[in-house]
Amino acid sequence: MAFKDNRGFIEALQKSGDVVCIKQEVDWDLEAGAITRRTCELRGPAVLFQKIKDYPDGYRIFGGPLATYRRIAIAMGLPADTPINEIYDEFEHRQEHPIPPIVVNDGPCKENKMLGEDVDLYHFPAPMVHDGDGGRYINTWGFCVTREPDSGWVNWGIYRFMILNQQTLTGNPAPVSHLAMIFREKYLPRNKPLPTALVIGADPLSSIVAQQGLRVGESEADFAGALHQQPVELIKCETNDLLVPAHAEIVIEGELLPDVVAYEGPYGEYTGYRSDDPRQKVVFRVNAVTYRNSPILTMCVHGIPADEGQVTAAIGTGIGLRRLLRKRGLPVKNVYLPPEGAGHLAIVSVTRGGSEVARVVKEAMTVRRAWYPKILVVNDDVDIYNLGEVIHAFSVKCHSYRGITTSEEPGRGGPATPCYSKEERAELYGAVALLDATWPADWPEEDIPVKSSFNVIYPKEIQDKVLANCKSTGSKLVPLIERQEVTWESGFILLTLIVWTLHGRRSTTSGITKSICRISWKPRDSSGRHVTKIGSQPRGRVSSLPCMKWKLRILLRLWPRTRQTLPERESKAVCQSWLAWCRGLCIGR
Ligand SMILES: Cc1cc2nc3c(=O)[nH]c(=O)nc-3n(C[C@H](O)[C@H](O)[C@H](O)COP(=O)(O)O)c2cc1C
Repeated sequence: MAFKDNRGFIEALQKSGDVVCIKQEVDWDLEAGAITRRTCELRGPAVLFQKIKDYPDGYRIFGGPLATYRRIAIAMGLPADTPINEIYDEFEHRQEHPIPPIVVNDGPCKENKMLGEDVDLYHFPAPMVHDGDGGRYINTWGFCVTREPDSGWVNWGIYRFMILNQQTLTGNPAPVSHLAMIFREKYLPRNKPLPTALVIGADPLSSIVAQQGLRVGESEADFAGALHQQPVELIKCETNDLLVPAHAEIVIEGELLPDVVAYEGPYGEYTGYRSDDPRQKVVFRVNAVTYRNSPILTMCVHGIPADEGQVTAAIGTGIGLRRLLRKRGLPVKNVYLPPEGAGHLAIVSVTRGGSEVARVVKEAMTVRRAWYPKILVVNDDVDIYNLGEVIHAFSVKCHSYRGITTSEEPGRGGPATPCYSKEERAELYGAVALLDATWPADWPEEDIPVKSSFNVIYPKEIQDKVLANCKSTGSKLVPLIERQEVTWESGFILLTLIVWTLHGRRSTTSGITKSICRISWKPRDSSGRHVTKIGSQPRGRVSSLPCMKWKLRILLRLWPRTRQTLPERESKAVCQSWLAWCRGLCIGR
């Protein structure tokens, strides 16, 4: 089931334990940002801030809505623990069938309206996200709706916007973005303002689609419908004819001005650094704001991965690139943009490798812009969602000389890439390192080293046997025999301990108790080790009370251990020595 709005999504997150609701007052000035950043870094839950300093009850901030794959899965109506590759496949499969939106006449986003001079952007708890940001960012996880005037094509895109004053914003659409393209090509030459709607707090799937790099002419609303598997409901704006999601929390209507610029930034970027200087950017004059009762402002706190920027790009953009490469006839199995790479690393697996394939992959991936400065190509036996496997392939298969090729891509780089100098960033310098970790195409098969992994180097029947044992124990790691033995022996230890403890009056009794008591009287050296062998001590009478106390103490210490199975114990060694000890007793008799 897909959610029409963020509120349904938040309820689902509450049920699965993927959101925490904070009732105590939290400051919009850094505190909400800091909490969200921390939870992102710990891969923790999303945060719903329910009481914001200086704001009336009900005005809320929803931080980190989609910063984990679990939350993406939930947003798509999948089980929370769906593996990444299955989320990818489902996402791609759904997007093969775009569903156009429907227009409705009424919707929750119209519950409240501010028009003209009444507009006050400070009415909403726009956060100061990071210390040192250029201002309060009202939009960190919302998208702009604009229309290309000649074709009527409507574009959605996520671009951050900062408050300049009560009725003005400045924002950061990159020069290569579709919004910048429409503005530059169709409005600036005519000196006309570009009608724009900024949608904050739309349903989660529409927001994911808005950050996908779709092609000119493709409608994000149709692709959002595809993910929902039903049409998205749109409603007309108050002051222009743009259509926006009817269930959004806040809609800011206005226009980008053709003749004014203002400084935007700096900002804690998606790269994990404050890696761009304030620059003169577009100015958004606001004409109206409509919003739901008790509005929930969504907030993405960019930083060291992961946040929704990196996680949703891993899926949306990753699938877009996979589609693009396959369309070009390349033998591509998967593309993964790991959130840990902060949008600077693309991993591509291919069914047929070699330097020529890698080169063509790189060319195709840098057609529009050179925003992935590291492209790593691996064979398809590598699970590219498993970074351990990826690092292994890179380390041992990428030839340190022949396997790495670099190229400069002037004017097509990312403006915030931290390793570029200030000058390079300013002129959008770009460079790409292609890391080829595939086997060379001209190596005969017998020259390719055999992989020593469980599923390659062992015969099938051995694999099956091992896996069958693991399955029957319900564990992936511990073979069946070990667990049964331990469970049985643990019971044995427990029983003997009880008998031994209760039998306090004499040590010269028969059977197991006798043996145990003999051991208990062995003398020890200064380090606590027994100095004689089992059974070498003379039997003797034991005064019952101190002995009972002593044994009871041992019993209490060992009791918890006997009730656990081996894998759960803190110390495997302790358990094993006890088992050996018991076995020794049995054999000795
Ligand atoms: C949280 C978040 C913030 C983003 N901020 C910006 C931004 O400020 N400027 C920008 O150009 N792209 C930004 N992006 C990336 C764009 O949303 C993405 O490139 C998208 O494809 C743009 O749409 P377009 O291709 O239709 O221009 C952001 C993405 C996310 C997920």
